Amino acid sequence: MNETVVSGIRPTGKLHLGNYFGAVQNFLKFQDTYTCFFFIADYHSLTTHPTPAGLNDSVYRVLAEYLALGLDPEKCTLYLQSDVPEVAELYLFLNMNAYKGELERVSSFKEKAKSQPDNINAGLLTYPVLMAADIILHHGTRVPVGKDQEQHLEMARTFANRFNRLYNVNYFQEPFAIGSGNKLVKVPGLTGGGKMSKSAGEADSIYLDDEPEVLKKKIMRAVSDSGPATPGMHKSVPVQNLFDLMALVSAKDVIDFYDKSHTEGSIRYGDMKKQIAEDMEHFIAPLRSRIQDTLKNRELVAKAAKTGMEKARESAGKTIREVREIIGFRPF
Ligand code: ADP
Ligand code: TRP
Repeated sequence: MNETVVSGIRPTGKLHLGNYFGAVQNFLKFQDTYTCFFFIADYHSLTTHPTPAGLNDSVYRVLAEYLALGLDPEKCTLYLQSDVPEVAELYLFLNMNAYKGELERVSSFKEKAKSQPDNINAGLLTYPVLMAADIILHHGTRVPVGKDQEQHLEMARTFANRFNRLYNVNYFQEPFAIGSGNKLVKVPGLTGGGKMSKSAGEADSIYLDDEPEVLKKKIMRAVSDSGPATPGMHKSVPVQNLFDLMALVSAKDVIDFYDKSHTEGSIRYGDMKKQIAEDMEHFIAPLRSRIQDTLKNRELVAKAAKTGMEKARESAGKTIREVREIIGFRPF
């Protein structure tokens, strides 16, 4: 089947392991096979009120990182959301058909409302509507994202179907989240809490350009527990997190060894962390050096943005013309 893949990352900081394994790894896989649109969700990042200079730097950085990690402007459409104003128009149309009650029930909204009580703006409430617009603007059917985005994808299907029903058309297709195998990925943070996240702070995240000493220090300080008291004890959440990190970068025999020593009750978390740090450095080293090089290449980054904008607007323009016609914005 001819799938169209769409996904974006907010320019809210440096890319980390969660972004890589939840999203970018699949972007790389799909760009060889499907029609792909990958973008930087800079409109979305306005919900947290970045400064103009901060916004500009972050957008540049994510685009440079996309390129450094291997996204190829020849193979996929790589663009900035704000370079495609058509998405704002589709967002407006979808907003007419999105209800306050359902938006208030979205977990990410509830979390944000709690964490930033002084800035519960309408953009935050309608975040999933803009995200649905991003996807269906290009008739996306597959959306590579991490587990945290599952509910947003459900909303995108709701809005696509609702548009079809309202206008009695079969115009938009349903988009589905896609992970690795049939599972959506959740990379844990290092501080024993939830998912690794750009906003959770330095100590919680492993960035794709972390220097070797920083990397090692962060991993050695990761939360674990004092060791299984009895053989066969269940893994606590922080210990399971360590195993999850190890699974991303270590070889199977290494993972099996630590798994067995946990079951036997002989595991030493210090050794395990040293091993993770070593394997992580092995994984990060080539990425770090490509990111550092690409960040310096302003011409390459600017050129990629321009090429991407042209391709994205072509696809978006077609959809918007058709949507306007469906809605009834027609010449007399
Ligand atoms: P963050 O939450 O760090 O600000 P974004 O919200 O911009 O990152 O997420 C960009 C992409 O990376 C999304 O597809 C998201 O699902 C994925 N992602 C972010 N953090 C993780 C994580 N810890 N594990 C798996 N995927 C993640
Ligand atoms: N909401 C996503 C996140 O926080 C980013 C995003 C915006 C996105 N629009 C999208 C992801 C469209 C996939 C498709 O990670």
